[in-house]
Parts: sequence; C-alpha cells; structure tokens
Amino acid sequence: MASPLCSTPLVLSFVTTAIVAAIAPTSSVPTEAEALLRTGWWSSNGGNTSGHCTWQGISCNKDGSITRIDRHGAVGSGFLDKLEKLNFSCFPNLVYLDLARFVVNGSIPAQIGALSSLEYLDLSYNYLTGELPRSLGKLTRLKELKLYDNSFEGSIPMDFGNLRSLMSLEMMSCNISGPIPYEIGNLKNLSVLSLTKNKLGGSIPSSLSNLSGLNILYLDSNLLQGPIPHEIGNLKSLQVLSLTKNKLIGSIPSSLSNLSSLSVLHLDSNLLQGPIPHEIGNLKNLQVLSLTKNKLRGSIPSSLSNLSGLSDLYLDSNLLQGPIPREIGNLKLLVLSLSNNRINGSIPPEVFTCPSSTLDLSHNFIEGEIPHGDGNFVYVSNLDLSHNNLTGMIPDSLEGVDMVDLSYNSLIGPIPHYLIDSFGPDSFRGNKHLCGNLPGFSHCPASNKVKIAKTIIPIVGILALLSLGCLLYFRYKAKNNIPESNVTKNGDLFSIWNFDGKIAFQDIIEATEDFDIRYCIGTGGYGSVYRAQLPTGKIVAIKKLHRREAEVPAFDKSFKNEAKMLSEIRHKNIVKLHGFCLHDRCMFLIYEYMARGSLFRVLADDTEAVELDWIKRVKIITDTASALSNLHHDCHPPVVHRDISSNNILLDSNLEACISDFGTARLLDPNSSNQTMLVGTYGYVAPELAYTMVVTEKCDVYSFGVLALETLTGKHPDPRLPLPSNRRVAKDIVFATTIAFACLRWNPKFRPTMKCVSRKRAVADRLQIISVLQLKNHDLYVDGERRIQPRNAEQGGEIHAGSST
Ligand SMILES: *[C@@H]1O[C@H](CO)[C@@H](O)[C@H](O)[C@H]1NC(C)=O
Ligand SMILES: *[C@@H]1O[C@H](CO)[C@@H](O)[C@H](O)[C@H]1NC(C)=O
Ligand SMILES: *[C@@H]1O[C@H](CO)[C@@H](O)[C@H](O)[C@H]1NC(C)=O
Ligand SMILES: *[C@@H]1O[C@H](CO)[C@@H](O)[C@H](O)[C@H]1NC(C)=O
Ligand SMILES: *[C@@H]1O[C@H](CO)[C@@H](O)[C@H](O)[C@H]1NC(C)=O
Ligand SMILES: *[C@@H]1O[C@H](CO)[C@@H](O)[C@H](O)[C@H]1NC(C)=O
Ligand SMILES: *[C@@H]1O[C@H](CO)[C@@H](O)[C@H](O)[C@H]1NC(C)=O
Ligand SMILES: *[C@@H]1O[C@H](CO)[C@@H](O)[C@H](O)[C@H]1NC(C)=O
Ligand SMILES: *[C@@H]1O[C@H](CO)[C@@H](O)[C@H](O)[C@H]1NC(C)=O
Ligand SMILES: *[C@@H]1O[C@H](CO)[C@@H](O)[C@H](O)[C@H]1NC(C)=O
Ligand SMILES: *[C@@H]1O[C@H](CO)[C@@H](O)[C@H](O)[C@H]1NC(C)=O
Ligand SMILES: *[C@@H]1O[C@H](CO)[C@@H](O)[C@H](O)[C@H]1NC(C)=O
Repeated sequence: MASPLCSTPLVLSFVTTAIVAAIAPTSSVPTEAEALLRTGWWSSNGGNTSGHCTWQGISCNKDGSITRIDRHGAVGSGFLDKLEKLNFSCFPNLVYLDLARFVVNGSIPAQIGALSSLEYLDLSYNYLTGELPRSLGKLTRLKELKLYDNSFEGSIPMDFGNLRSLMSLEMMSCNISGPIPYEIGNLKNLSVLSLTKNKLGGSIPSSLSNLSGLNILYLDSNLLQGPIPHEIGNLKSLQVLSLTKNKLIGSIPSSLSNLSSLSVLHLDSNLLQGPIPHEIGNLKNLQVLSLTKNKLRGSIPSSLSNLSGLSDLYLDSNLLQGPIPREIGNLKLLVLSLSNNRINGSIPPEVFTCPSSTLDLSHNFIEGEIPHGDGNFVYVSNLDLSHNNLTGMIPDSLEGVDMVDLSYNSLIGPIPHYLIDSFGPDSFRGNKHLCGNLPGFSHCPASNKVKIAKTIIPIVGILALLSLGCLLYFRYKAKNNIPESNVTKNGDLFSIWNFDGKIAFQDIIEATEDFDIRYCIGTGGYGSVYRAQLPTGKIVAIKKLHRREAEVPAFDKSFKNEAKMLSEIRHKNIVKLHGFCLHDRCMFLIYEYMARGSLFRVLADDTEAVELDWIKRVKIITDTASALSNLHHDCHPPVVHRDISSNNILLDSNLEACISDFGTARLLDPNSSNQTMLVGTYGYVAPELAYTMVVTEKCDVYSFGVLALETLTGKHPDPRLPLPSNRRVAKDIVFATTIAFACLRWNPKFRPTMKCVSRKRAVADRLQIISVLQLKNHDLYVDGERRIQPRNAEQGGEIHAGSST
C-alpha cells in the first residue's frame, strides 16, 4: 500500500533530532509512515514503512492516508516523551487523535494547529505543561477536546472561541487560571463544558447563556466570584449544573426555575445568601439538589414537595429557619440532610413513614417526639437526630438502623435493647433522663404503664378499620366477578377464557398435536408444560393438568386459583396469562412463553450465570420488588403469593424477570382469618408461618429477601462474576443486600413493606442514568484508575455518596 506524501509543507520551528536524521530515509518531505516511525513510538523492522495502516492504533482511509491515531494508554515507548516528536504537518487527513494516558510531558506544540481535519483530540492524563497554544483555535472542525489532568500554565486562549464545531470541551484538573473567556459564548454547538478543578477566576461570563444546547456544565472547584448570572436561566437544555466550591455571592436567581430539564443542581460551598427561591419547585426533573454550605436564610420552601423525582436533598450548613415542611414527607428521598441550620418545630411523621436511607437533622432546634413510623419499621440506614431538643421516649421503630445518633437531646425513658446491642453510649449521651445498661447511664426502673396504653389504642383503631374494610369489601365483591365466558361444546359445559380473544382452543390442540410429548418442555409439581406456536406466530407456554391429577382436589383447586388470580392481575413483571380452559376433561392455562426458564436454572448454569451480570441481577431484584409491591399494595384485597422462590421467577429472552406460579397465592380477605396450611418452598418460608400459620404480606417480604440474596450470590458466594468495576453498580449491590437483610428480619413487623422497597429501588434506578452521564463526562471508570480517588470525592461520588460534612 502506498503512503501518500505530506501535502502541507509548513515551516517548523523546532529542530529535528539526530535520531530522526538517522532513521529518516532520503526524502526531506517525510511520508505519513515515516513521520510515525520517527517518533519511535512504533517499533519498526529496519525502517520498513509499508503496511503502516495496520500498525497498532492506526487507521487509514481508502487512499492509505492516516485518519486515526489511537494510542490511548499505550504506555511504553512514549513514556515521558515529547508530543512534538509527532510531525503534525504530516497528517492532513487525521480526524481522530487520542494520546490520553500515553504519558508525554513538555508542552503542546503550536504545530498542532496544522491538523486541519481533526475532529477528536484527547491528550488527557499526561504530564503536559506550558501554555495552551493559541493555534488550538485553528482546529475549527474539532468536536471533542479533552485535556484533563495536565499541569498547564496561564489561561484559556480567546482563540478557543473559534472552535465553533465543538460539542464537548473537557478541561478538568488542568491548572488553568485567568477568566473564562467571553468568546466561549460563540461555541453554539457545545453540549458538555467541564472546567472543574482549575484556578479560574473572575465572574461567570453572561455569554454562556448563548449556549442553548448545553446539557452539562461543570464549573465547580475554581475561584469564580460575583453572582450567578440571571441569564443562566436561558440554558433550557441544561441537565447537570455544578457551581460547587467557588466564591459566588448574591442570591440564587429565580430564573433557574426555567431550566426545566435540570436533574442535578449543585450550588454548595459558595457564599450564596438570601432565601431558597420558591420557584425551585418548578424544576420538575430535579433528582439531586445540593445547596449545602452557603449562607442561605429563610424557611425551607414547601414547593420542594413538587419535585417528585427528587432523591437527594442537601440543605445542611446554612442559616435556614422555621419548621420542616410536612409535604417533604411525600418525596421518595434517599438522602435528606438538613443539619446545622436553625430549624425548629417538630419532625413531621410523614418524614418517617418511608424515611430516607440517610436522614440527618442534627444541630438544629427541633422539638417534640421522634415519630413512631406508623408502627412499621422502614428501612433507614443512617439516622442522625443529635443536638436538638427532642423529648419523649425512643420509639421501637428504629430497629435495623446501621448508624444512629440521638445524643444531646432531652429524651427520656429506657434505651431499647435492640439499640443497646448495636451501639455504644456515644449515640445517647447528653440526654439526662435516658436509662439503660450502658456506661454512663442509670439502670431503668422495672416496668412502666405507658407502653400498655400505647398498644391498646392502635388495636382499637385497627378493629374500627377492619369493620369498615369488611363493609367496603362486600360491596366491592358484589359488583365484580372474574371475567368468565362459557362456551358450550359437544354438550359439555366448557369454561374457557382468553385475554384478547385471539386464541382458539383448536389452535392449542393443533399446535401441540394434542399435547404430544414432543412439545413438552417441563413437568412440574402437577401437570406438564408445553411449548406451542400459534398460527399467528406467537409462542406460548401451556400448563396442563393431567386427567388423573385433575381428580386430586388440591391440584384442581390450585389450578383454578391460579387462573382466577392471574386473570385479574396485570403487571409487566408478572407472567401474563393469555387464557385458560377449565373443564374436567381438559384443564390447561396459557401463558406468555419465557424463553430462558427459571432463575434457579440460569443461576445454576455456569455459562448463563456469567451472562447474568450484576446490572441484570439487580434489575431482576428490582422488577420482582415492583411486582410484589403491586400485588400487596395495588390489588384489593391484597394478594400474597406465598411461594416466591428462584424456581418461580421466570426469565424471558432478555433476561427480564416475571413472577409465576400463583397456585398457592391467596387473597387477604378482611373477613377471613388468614389462617392457612403451610405452603411454600423450603428455605424461603418466613419463620413465623411455622408457628402462627397466619399469612401476611410480610411472608412474601421474607421470601423476597432470600431470593434477593440468592440472586446476588448465586446460592454460594458467586465466583463466576468479576467484582463490579463501576462504583454505581457496586453501590447498587450493597444497597440491594442491605434491603435483602432488612427483609429477612425475624420479626415481620420490622421488615419493610414491598412498597417501600420498590419505591427506593425506583429512585436508585433513575440515578443510574445520571451516573452514566457523569461517568462519560469524567472518564471516571472507563480509564480513571490513576486519579480515581480525588475524582470520586470531588465528582460523581459527591452526587451519590452525599456531601462530606
Ligand atoms: C515535518 O514535515 C514537514 C513537511 O510537511 C517538513 O517540512 C518538516 O521538515 C518536518 N519536520 C520535522 C521536524 O521533521
Ligand atoms: C516490509 O514489510 C512487508 C510486510 O509488512 C513485507 O511484505 C515487505 O517485504 C517488507 N519490505 C522490506 C524491504 O523489508
Ligand atoms: C519530561 O520528563 C523527563 C524524564 O523524566 C524529564 O527529564 C524532563 O525534564 C521532563 N520535561 C518536562 C518539560 O517536564
Ligand atoms: C499552575 O499554574 C501556575 C500559574 O499559571 C504555575 O505557576 C504553576 O507552576 C502551575 N503548577 C503546576 C503544577 O504546573
Ligand atoms: C452545529 O450542529 C449542527 C447540528 O448538528 C450542524 O448542522 C452544524 O454544522 C454544527 N455547526 C458547526 C459550526 O459545526
Ligand atoms: C449571543 O449571540 C448573539 C448572536 O449570535 C449575539 O448578538 C449576542 O451578543 C450574544 N450574547 C452574548 C451574551 O454573548
Ligand atoms: C423564564 O423564561 C421566560 C421566557 O422564556 C421569561 O419570560 C421568564 O421571565 C423567565 N422566568 C424567570 C424567572 O426568569
Ligand atoms: C405544586 O405545583 C402545583 C401545580 O404545578 C401548584 O399548584 C402547587 O401550588 C405547587 N405546590 C407547592 C407546595 O408549591
Ligand atoms: C421557630 O422560629 C421562628 C423564628 O426563628 C419563630 O418565629 C417560631 O415561633 C418558631 N417556632 C416554634 C414552633 O418554636
Ligand atoms: C428543650 O425543651 C424543654 C421542654 O420543652 C425546655 O424546657 C428547654 O428549655 C429546651 N431546651 C433548649 C436548649 O431549647
Ligand atoms: C354463561 O352461562 C350462563 C348460564 O348458562 C349465562 O347466563 C351467561 O350469560 C353465560 N355467559 C356468557 C359470557 O356467555
Ligand atoms: C387478613 O389480612 C388482611 C390483609 O392484611 C387484613 O386486612 C385482615 O385484617 C386479616 N384478617 C385477620 C382476621 O387478621
């Protein structure tokens, strides 16, 4: 393949080294291949330059001219070498140049401006020094410029304003000083601008507001001064805005409320004053809001409760006063941090009914009692209520917290045993009237009567509710019956129903050649399962009860039960019943076909278990939680499955999970005793069923906990999957494990409800979208090992792990 000659003769300012002269062949105008060879970055067989298009990291166009040089991370020959060894004048067709982590030092040569076709330039993670050459401004076709993690001097050249094709400019940790040039407002196509962790001063230029396509703006960790320009409200596409750790003054502009796409807003660690604008409640897509460490005054706006997607709310270390708005309890927060303010009033019970996994209200002036959480324990891992003026006794509902600090309040009475067992005296210090078997506390007197009163009142309440429930249920039942149509065939009464009316009995018989053994794909506790392809092409699974089995009343009953349950339930993670035939000669149920079979089978298979990576496993847990929440909380009366196990979770071809086998599922009739025979799968059955025989939703919660752990560990701690490299996934796994253990609590009362579990998962899932954006922007996990720690602390980590206090 012939190498074209360099077509752009340029006068170069630097002197060629002796090595180059030695290697260089006769021609004074080097070919592209020779220019590569002279760098010494590609080993050569005695200066043989043919076939350079196949050299590592090189791509050519059809004329054999180099279009792409990618030596990302190719440490070796280039170690602490100079960029200028590459004769930039020689590559007129170069579109893509990636020398990130190539470990070069020295400055960026001005000749880089000769790369007239360049669209992508990545010189990140090197030891580049010196000023940024103005000639970078000649790369007018450049779409992405990444220079982060270098040690430049001086400021961003005004010439950057010429890079009008630029979509992404990432210069994090570059030691750049001076102002952000006004000309940056010319880069109309910019979507990502990250200038994090530099020494940029001056104020935020109002010209930024011209970047109407900007999605991500990171100006955090600089020395920016002055107010946040009002014009920032024009950045209608903005999704992530971080101005953290600067010296910004003035108030939060209400124009921010026009940023309707915003999902992450970080303004923490500045000198912002004034109130939190009420209009912030218009940011309907907001997921993370951090205003920590400013000088904000006034009250917490109740409009925050309109931010239904909000998961992390940090308002700590300000001068906020007044009460915690009750409405905040409606949010599905993972983190609520209000510490170090001047908040007074009491803790609204709403904040405790499905509390955040981190709830920090410490160092305020909060009074009143700790709410009792509805008598139900709900998942909270970190609870800090210290340094307030809380009164009353410590409620029972705090069991299971991972961290608790109630110190320096005015609490009274005994410290519950479950807390004494897990925490030291520091968590309770500074409450004069607390007692318990802990160093520095007095022993408690024998018993007290307060407790009795507390249990009687709820019982009366429950009875009242029960009778109301019965009344409503009978009325409801009178109106509703399962959809059943009856077809008379050959004189027999034949009960058949199908969901969309498109499946005919005859089709089933033909598709399975009258239930021929060849179509059988499994045999269960009762009956066999067949795979049938209908004339429409649709594949269904058919569970058939054999005639002999149909005569066993228990089988018959469970079969009919399943038909009844599933014909009423629709959820994307509950197996779909397409129809059934209930007739004493022919009993079968028609389901959607789940190609991958049961979760148990997939986990047990070495190859398939590896395919089921961490993200998919977490998703299976999430989906199962969502389906169970639907059964428990959206069905009237509630449905308890009673046999959740990995055998009854089926996976489709995309490894998406569905709950199946409702043979033992049961309605929790308000007028039934809920007493039951023990059913379920050994190892998954909640312990209380063994002695009370009373089913509740919490039995499923327990089985779900077993299932979640089994899914994560693959029964035995699973050596088949590598450790997750993505920190978000790792965090998800830890989160799922924590939830699973909460579901396995011995006392059903202290297990979370499925609604609470699945709500939290939904929030965590949405966060994943953000983190992918973050990772992409910051090259965090893709190739971030060198600076992973500072990155974590300053960037993505801050969003997910919370602000450091
Ligand atoms: C770089 O290539 C140009 C031709 O495009 C040539 O004139 C110049 O001498 C080369 N410089 C070096 C240092 O080899
Ligand atoms: C150069 O290498 C190619 C294969 O890459 C080979 O075909 C050719 O003979 C070599 N030329 C010389 C002069 O060694
Ligand atoms: C580049 O690295 C080499 C080898 O460590 C060193 O001798 C040289 O001074 C460095 N140059 C610059 C400009 O940092
Ligand atoms: C950072 O920039 C300043 C001023 O531009 C310069 O004095 C300093 O040497 C640079 N730091 C490093 C580590 O290069
Ligand atoms: C900006 O983006 C638009 C749409 O992608 C494109 O048509 C236009 O050419 C770009 N402008 C420049 C200067 O590259
Ligand atoms: C925004 O762009 C328009 C035209 O493109 C220009 O007239 C105006 O001065 C720019 N505004 C700022 C603040 O840069
Ligand atoms: C939001 O934008 C509209 C026009 O797009 C403007 O009229 C309004 O004043 C802006 N609101 C704020 C608070 O800036
Ligand atoms: C929430 O939004 C609705 C309509 O968007 C508005 O009527 C209501 O006042 C808002 N609630 C609060 C507390 O701001
Ligand atoms: C809370 O503080 C505000 C002002 O600091 C005061 O007006 C209000 O009465 C206080 N509320 C309570 C319940 O103490
Ligand atoms: C705490 O509350 C009690 C009773 O409401 C009151 O007597 C006491 O002064 C309060 N202490 C502080 C530090 O506010
Ligand atoms: C089912 O049969 C009953 C009694 O024979 C009849 O009243 C009813 O209309 C039938 N239902 C349908 C949907 O055909
Ligand atoms: C049976 O369970 C349902 C749902 O939890 C409940 O409403 C009902 O009170 C229970 N029945 C009895 C007798 O406990």
